[in-house]
Amino acid sequence: MISAPTSQHKPGTPAGTASVSHEGKTVELPVLKGSVGPHVIDIRKLYAETDTFTYDPGFTSTASCESSITFIDGDKGVLLYRGYPIEQLAEHGDFLETCYLLLYGDLPTAQQMKEFDRAITYHTMVHEQINYFFRGFRRDAHPMAVMVGVVGALSAFYHDSTDIDDPHQRMVASYRMVAKMPTIAAMAHKYSIGQPFVYPRNDLGYAENFLRMCFAVPAEEYKASPTLARALDRIFILHADHEQNASTSTVRLAGSSGANPFACIAAGIACLWGPAHGGANEAALQMLQEIGDVKRIPEYIALAKDKNDPLRLMGFGHRIYKNYDPRAKVMQKTCHEVLDELGLKNDPLLAVAMELERIALNDDYFVEKKLYPNIDFYSGITLKAMGFPTAMFTALFALARTVGWIAQWTEMIEDPAQKIGRPRQLYTGHPRRDYVPLQKR
Ligand code: SDX
Repeated sequence: MISAPTSQHKPGTPAGTASVSHEGKTVELPVLKGSVGPHVIDIRKLYAETDTFTYDPGFTSTASCESSITFIDGDKGVLLYRGYPIEQLAEHGDFLETCYLLLYGDLPTAQQMKEFDRAITYHTMVHEQINYFFRGFRRDAHPMAVMVGVVGALSAFYHDSTDIDDPHQRMVASYRMVAKMPTIAAMAHKYSIGQPFVYPRNDLGYAENFLRMCFAVPAEEYKASPTLARALDRIFILHADHEQNASTSTVRLAGSSGANPFACIAAGIACLWGPAHGGANEAALQMLQEIGDVKRIPEYIALAKDKNDPLRLMGFGHRIYKNYDPRAKVMQKTCHEVLDELGLKNDPLLAVAMELERIALNDDYFVEKKLYPNIDFYSGITLKAMGFPTAMFTALFALARTVGWIAQWTEMIEDPAQKIGRPRQLYTGHPRRDYVPLQKR
């Protein structure tokens, strides 16, 4: 039972109490209310006072931290970065401005933006020795395997920004990661296709620089299409942060032990790789290619609904969005813009995607389970049209999400209440038993 919250209060402070009764014992727990969104029952003293844990595999009803970075209302399809709606940031802003917003909490002034832009631009090169680090990978290594390895190794190259207790070193490490992730991702791509690495340029914008590092060759000049650069910049904005998702929670948990920021981001990349999470954009495109023709869609819909078949519609469903993912709407619009720009609006994959979406959104199974397209449904078609190999899709997701991971990691490090994350369990194994000698088994 949750008693009614008191009237005015500061977000994050007690606004009422909840009573938990068990085996004749009752404990009053504070209820904390944020600035928007659900209340939380503060259970920090539950175990000490009742010798009982809470149980929530997958954390479907658990708030792991207090945060002021990103807010999601899954029922209303709302996503706010520091209070600003994602649709407005994607429409009017750019990715570096969004990075500043996520890192510092407010939109930058013109002067702040100029200084931030310059600081990031002048950190885009990587230590020359890292070029040789790549040589250890097979050419056919998945770019995400390379990204995990290279980003994890950055702490071996940048010793002067691994002291997490030094705010200046935390800032330098943050800037280095936001700045170097595109360079590392582009190097992973170039290495996989046997082409020479292309160095970043200080006279290009963030997305334009990345396109050039991925698609330029020494044999000729390269100029990125402004439409594609703008579309990619917007895609980065859409992927920048998303509250306490699996990879962000991984970064926070790794960071709670005091691990250096490069190692924490490498842990986040590893988690993002999974097909249920960031790997869904690659899996969604592969699914669309497998379906191949709108005539085969009913067969796949039936498999996705069949409880005995593991197939899921990749790019559909979300733990929080039980309405349309607001990023998917912007992603769909961007997909059409890119295909129009490239003269691919008759792309058969787009036809399959749009028909699959239409059928699924009218199918009782998907309607009842509130399964809507998520950000990964249209991103794969868009990135493929831009010329990225499918295996690079999640690497681009990691590139964009790095700023969100860094902002969340910084918030955790600077939170006076933070301590090492160490969940407990419901043990259902053997009670104590004595060793049995081999000859008696
Ligand atoms: C991202 O958390 C984030 O914020 C992530 C992310 C971010 O920005 O960081 O938004 C990025 O990871 C987006 C999600 C990308 N993943 C996919 O598109 C993969 C396909 N989607 C599913 O695997 C699933 O929807 C999840 C993993 C996204 C969410 O899973 P949940 O919340 O744990 O839900 P669930 O697995 O318990 O499913 C609920 C029901 C189940 O049926 P029942 O057991 O209740 O009968 O819905 C069904 C599921 O079988 N279901 C699907 C489905 N997704 C869920 N059935 C068919 N196709 C699907 N895609």
